[in-house]
Amino acid sequence: MSGNALQAPSLREAYDHSFLIGAAISGRELMDPGREALLLRHFSSITAENAMKPERILDRAATLERGDPVRTVQNYTFVDRMLSYAEAHGLRVRFHVLVWHNQTPKWFFREGWSDAPDAKDAEPDLLLRRQAAYIADVMDHVNAKYPGLVYAWDVVNEAIEPDQGGENGCRTRSEWYRIAGPRFITAAFREARLHTLPGQKLFYNDYNAYFPQKLDAILHTLRGLCAEGLVDGMGMQSHLELNRMNVALWEQAARAYASLGLTLHVTELDIHCNRSDEAGQKALAQAYRDFFGALLGLRRDGIPLESVTFWGLTDAESWLTGFRREQSWPLLFGGDLQTKPAFDAVIGLPEER
Ligand code: GLA
Repeated sequence: MSGNALQAPSLREAYDHSFLIGAAISGRELMDPGREALLLRHFSSITAENAMKPERILDRAATLERGDPVRTVQNYTFVDRMLSYAEAHGLRVRFHVLVWHNQTPKWFFREGWSDAPDAKDAEPDLLLRRQAAYIADVMDHVNAKYPGLVYAWDVVNEAIEPDQGGENGCRTRSEWYRIAGPRFITAAFREARLHTLPGQKLFYNDYNAYFPQKLDAILHTLRGLCAEGLVDGMGMQSHLELNRMNVALWEQAARAYASLGLTLHVTELDIHCNRSDEAGQKALAQAYRDFFGALLGLRRDGIPLESVTFWGLTDAESWLTGFRREQSWPLLFGGDLQTKPAFDAVIGLPEER
């Protein structure tokens, strides 16, 4: 059954005693009154889909003009717009993301901030100093202007990919790793720790974080960070696929991360489903029910699962149909602002259990 999402019971309220319910937004949703109302009714947390990524924040022209080999100049127009909105509307914010091989401009890694194709790499130590300066600048800006609004920082995203054969299971296809080696990860967390306000948590975030080989590699890195008290949480992205997901394996991985003493966040949830017909969406609903059942089970067992964020507000904004150009209907709400069977499958769960 579908119904008007703006009159349906609130998802955020249903999960009030369990965990925050988040959505990734581009910012465009806020210009559409229906979507804005949907956001405020059902969600308690937001993540910027792109607005807080280095490529959106770094200003090359101003950096060149500044002429400093280490410090960039940042442009916070879109960051501030989203943070002010969140502050005014009582939404919590996950900051995504400080250090990532993707969506960080190539010139950040080159000598003289050059964007020439044959530019020389920055020396490893210079790159790590730049990394530290960027982390410091961004965290200090956000924390000074909006103290307490950001509750989680994705410090490093997607640095582990054991298939690529890097040291410590690191992804080799990364400018961070290629130039500085695996130590960029610890360096990033050390710097972030210096700029953390009380109540804020530092996260490592990754996809397929429940695949056994990847789980082992991530655990290895996290243990090292935990030993120095540098990390507080594991972000399991959870871009799942209807036909390939394995809830039992996912749950086992979540418990393994928690056993290190880490808080857990589901940071980018969607379940790819390429059928919009009744049978397809019914299967999706069952998958969400199983998954949320497992999440509530973790909570019941005292696992600190604190936040569950969907990657997109409605099917119409999903990156799967946008960026990936797939046929997909992966979320709880339709682009027509109707609830889907998947919504019905999870809204009553906390009461039932
Ligand atoms: C990764 C990133 C996100 C986003 C998605 C695709 O999971 O962490 O920021 O780019 O890919 O939209």
